[in-house]
Amino acid sequence: MQETKKGLEGIVALDTSISFIDGMQGILKYRGLAIEQLAEMSYDSVSYLLVNGMLPNDQELAAYSFRLKTERRINGEMIDIMRVCNYGTEALDSLRTAISCTAQMDHENDNNSLEANKNKAIRLIAKLPTMLAALYRCKKGETPYLPDDNLSHGANFLYMLRGEAPSAIEAEAMEKDFIISAEHELNPSTFALRITASTLADVYSAIITGLCTLKGPLHGGARKGVMEMLDEVGNPENANAYVLHKLASKQKIMGFGHRVYRTGDPRSRIFKEMARRLADEKGDPTWYEIAESLEHAMYREFLEMRGRPMYPNVDFYSGVIYKYLDIPLELATSVFAIGRVSGWTAHCFEQYMDNRVIRPRAHYV
Ligand code: CMC
Repeated sequence: MQETKKGLEGIVALDTSISFIDGMQGILKYRGLAIEQLAEMSYDSVSYLLVNGMLPNDQELAAYSFRLKTERRINGEMIDIMRVCNYGTEALDSLRTAISCTAQMDHENDNNSLEANKNKAIRLIAKLPTMLAALYRCKKGETPYLPDDNLSHGANFLYMLRGEAPSAIEAEAMEKDFIISAEHELNPSTFALRITASTLADVYSAIITGLCTLKGPLHGGARKGVMEMLDEVGNPENANAYVLHKLASKQKIMGFGHRVYRTGDPRSRIFKEMARRLADEKGDPTWYEIAESLEHAMYREFLEMRGRPMYPNVDFYSGVIYKYLDIPLELATSVFAIGRVSGWTAHCFEQYMDNRVIRPRAHYV
């Protein structure tokens, strides 16, 4: 039996044409296009790219966006379910129930053809923001807002949370967050759902697998952890002491470190600039300044203690952006999922198209 690798570090498990990472140079591409370029597009274009393998032309994009908009609405039965499956501190617990119910109501649920699965992908991409906003409104005992077809994917989500259209920069920030969160090769949730897909289970089952795996604080749950940390630190002057205390007591600091990136996470650079612009626009530098102080303290301490710096990952400055967008804490991980769902569905299709069940071995001790 071969030697085992804890956490499967460095193991190459499969071929993919969906995304590419160069961890030394800090490069991330979706389908051959750098995320810096994708960040300037619409989420509709990027989700089309992920699901269909190429960017849409103008006509294809118009048709796809129209289709997504017509699929945004959820029915009254779903709203009734949402009123019952109220969440506690984590909306994701209810979102996964809502996706299960959507699957049962989907007339193509048992149809595993590529066409049916692409329809399911469109329904999931379109409906997830509506479901999450509706869960939030129901939790507060309020009536969900209907989606606004005049707004982009990101702007519409913020509108459905608040009942008023966001400012231009808020809409841009939400759209960028969904784009940059959309795909990341074999991260834990994507690997988990590819295993589910490899048994030829349906798309909804695979997506729920991904959603559940995203929840943990070592993965997507870190975004919520970052928001909590910003509150706890409260002031840029407290950042250094906070870092020293956490490291001395061997606790992880949320939003830092990565298995693959060794010289910094390119997604974090895009989010940092977006967070800075939001801070400027809102005339409130507090969250940004706390974050920058934490970043500097982590860099310094790791360099001093271990001879190598520590960089923020995707969840760090996106947590700062969520603070500026007033995203409720209990929604943070689910908001990540809204962006990631297009990458997840793309991985389901890739698995189905060249499938062999994923079944590694364990070393018996
Ligand atoms: N705070 C303090 N120490 C850290 C951190 C951190 N955020 N990240 C890594 N380290 C230390 C860790 O304690 C370990 O030290 P030692 O060798 O003394 O045990 C060393 O650095 C290597 O870390 P690791 O945990 O073995 O690395 P990994 O590749 O297994 O895990 C990670 C990667 C992202 C899970 C980890 O860095 C971590 O737990 N970060 C905090 C949680 C977080 O931000 N998660 C989001 C991940 S990226 C996006 C996403 O998936 O959502």
